[in-house]
Amino acid sequence: MSHEKSVVIRPAKSVNGSVRLPGDKSISHRYAMLGAIAEGTTKLENFSTGADCASTLGCLRMLGVRWEQNGASVVIHGRGAKLQAAGSPLACGNSGSTMRMLSGILAGQDFTSELAGDESLSRRPMARIIQPLQMMGAQIEAADGGRPPLRVTGSQLKAIDYKLPVASAQVKTALLFAGLYADGTTSIEEPIQTRDHGELALQAFGASVDRRMRQVSIDGGQRLHAIEATIPGDISSAAFFLCAAGLFPDSQLTIPGVLLNPTRARLLDFLIGLGLRITMTDLQEHHGELVGTLQVQGGTLKGARVADGDSAALIDEIPVLAAIAPYTSEGIEIRDARELRVKESDRIASVAINLRAMGAEVEEFDDGLRIPGGQKLHGASLDSFGDHRIAMAFSVAALRAEGETEIRGSDAAVISYPEFFK
Ligand code: S3P
Repeated sequence: MSHEKSVVIRPAKSVNGSVRLPGDKSISHRYAMLGAIAEGTTKLENFSTGADCASTLGCLRMLGVRWEQNGASVVIHGRGAKLQAAGSPLACGNSGSTMRMLSGILAGQDFTSELAGDESLSRRPMARIIQPLQMMGAQIEAADGGRPPLRVTGSQLKAIDYKLPVASAQVKTALLFAGLYADGTTSIEEPIQTRDHGELALQAFGASVDRRMRQVSIDGGQRLHAIEATIPGDISSAAFFLCAAGLFPDSQLTIPGVLLNPTRARLLDFLIGLGLRITMTDLQEHHGELVGTLQVQGGTLKGARVADGDSAALIDEIPVLAAIAPYTSEGIEIRDARELRVKESDRIASVAINLRAMGAEVEEFDDGLRIPGGQKLHGASLDSFGDHRIAMAFSVAALRAEGETEIRGSDAAVISYPEFFK
């Protein structure tokens, strides 16, 4: 998808109000895929409005799954474990989640599928799913160096014990999905615990999943049953508003119905550590996922370091944290975040280029960034680099800059949050 629109952001004085967010992208993908291979009719409310989750639904339709969508309501008529061969390549668009997690299901089918993506997705590494899925018995061909497009020929899979070399919830989920189709028990060990939506979603759809610390196991041959669910608001989208509010002491912001799953909510601890005042109320659990209302007041932002497991836990929020870093008093250092280089754009480079364009001092490392605090930024003409999170992160940075900021390719936001600028 090429992104051609621009927005102009003017400085703000505070961020006040209430915002209800579209459904979490990670959960929407998983519920849609599991709904497709479950028995019965899955009814989802507040499904992600982002183009990535539309890619997942589009691929499922090509695989013979019937579904209807009315705004954010999606009804999926499950086919049970067996899908139907698609007549043409499955269009994954910009969505790494679609390509990686769907490959886990396709590895267990008795036909061949091709999966293709846009220019950005075609650069992203797929060896991380190809290797373990091949060990399970699937045949997978990829372009040079394990890049898309992929050709996945499914087979009767066999279970494996696998240690993930990179912390990736997409890979973990792909292998758990493949594990449903395998003979025996598939066990996966992660180097650092990543988001656990795959495990929780499988349990919600009736599968039994054995979970201990960084180890998760699933028995093959389990049948899934349809669910009805309201998908919690996306906390990674909330991050932009939380950080925007954090820039101004007078801000008062409420975000109801947002996902607070502890494997995703490290952001809140981090922002509290920076100096924001955040309260959580109305805590509830839906299908194992914690949901609640956030109330946020701005404060004076101190400084912080993100490293080790925090980098994996905050991986999608780092662009916006880096974008507000110059406005903190002590700055923010981000390390152990090399994975940022293989996201929708090279997010370390995209952040450094845009911060420098706004007049900020930034040090770039192979695995992160150091951004000193106490800096004054000026408006500039910036590029989204076709990356939704970069477009939104720099809209937030622009709120405290001097003068106007133009974000070129701002429509990249459609990937996770089409309503963001509105
Ligand atoms: C996701 C996992 C993360 C994250 C992505 C969504 C998921 O990717 O960056 O936006 O839903 O499992 P990796 O698995 O590549 O770390």
